Amino acid sequence: MEIVVSGIRPTGNLHLGNYYGALVNFIKMQEENKCFFFIADWHSLTTHPDPDRLPINVKNVLSEYLACGLDPEKATVYIQSDVPEIAELYLLLNMHAYLGELEKTVSFKEKARQNPNNVNAGLLTYPVLMATDILIHHADYVPVGKDQEQHLEMTRNYAARFNYKYGVEYFKQPTAYNFGKELIKIPGLDGSGKMGKSEGNCIYLTDSPKDIENKVKKALTDNGPEGINTPKPDYIENLFTILKVVSTPEVVAYYDNLWNTGETKWYGKLKKQLAEDIIRTTSPIRERIDSIKNDDAYLQQVTKEGAAKARETAGKTLREVREMMGLSFHSAR
Ligand code: TRP
Repeated sequence: MEIVVSGIRPTGNLHLGNYYGALVNFIKMQEENKCFFFIADWHSLTTHPDPDRLPINVKNVLSEYLACGLDPEKATVYIQSDVPEIAELYLLLNMHAYLGELEKTVSFKEKARQNPNNVNAGLLTYPVLMATDILIHHADYVPVGKDQEQHLEMTRNYAARFNYKYGVEYFKQPTAYNFGKELIKIPGLDGSGKMGKSEGNCIYLTDSPKDIENKVKKALTDNGPEGINTPKPDYIENLFTILKVVSTPEVVAYYDNLWNTGETKWYGKLKKQLAEDIIRTTSPIRERIDSIKNDDAYLQQVTKEGAAKARETAGKTLREVREMMGLSFHSAR
């Protein structure tokens, strides 16, 4: 069985784009692979989150992932900071991470530019911590977005460098796993490309039916097609893209036909349909989120069992690495 690792930073709530772009695939992958999905709370510390807020965010993200179908019986689901082995391996791998390459990382340069007063060492070595997350479980595949590919490349470098340095074929070379054709990019409601937290054009899985109706109502439209069989402008195409994932092919064909015949004055109806179908898709998830969030005993059990499972493989890797690096003369542990 192939090993899959992916981390999720506990920032903000999940939206429709996350759901169709990543989560649906995580849920598929857990059926056929040995998966480790974790909440990367240490990574989120680089930006000094409010200590009162962080545990709430961790709980929210965890509840949302479970509500969407991440199954702790199938995948190992844990919180990064519950696995101290990661911190130690990170320390060891840091000895093989060089300042020059870390300073050149695109994500580091970007964050340093955005936040010149908080260029901390944790930010600099963010890719080493991420490499540790991946290598500690000997991952084959890492499902991540395009923006993480450089980190994956660095992970492969650290693996190869370690193997070369200690003359072993120990760490595997993990590959970034994009879902290729299956990857559905959910557009925002403002006609401006991708749905994203920072764009403020999101439908969240936690949005109430009323919120969803209002957001869809406000989506950008125009006066209608300017003729028969004209191409759709981006912002109209976007509404159809979302309709395609939440509605039936018949519904999509019906509105496509209205567009192609050049008819006008049906956007109101389209939006009503779209809102209804989004609500039908997200409501059961929202209800599950609510009930899981209120079930502290269940969440405790999931994180406890997840941490124990993660620590098994992590502990084995750490013991082997200590040995290879010569940390083998000491008091009996
Ligand atoms: N850096 C990733 C992100 O920002 C999160 C992450 C941390 C991660 N550790 C990981 C992703 C390990 C995949 C594997 O999205």
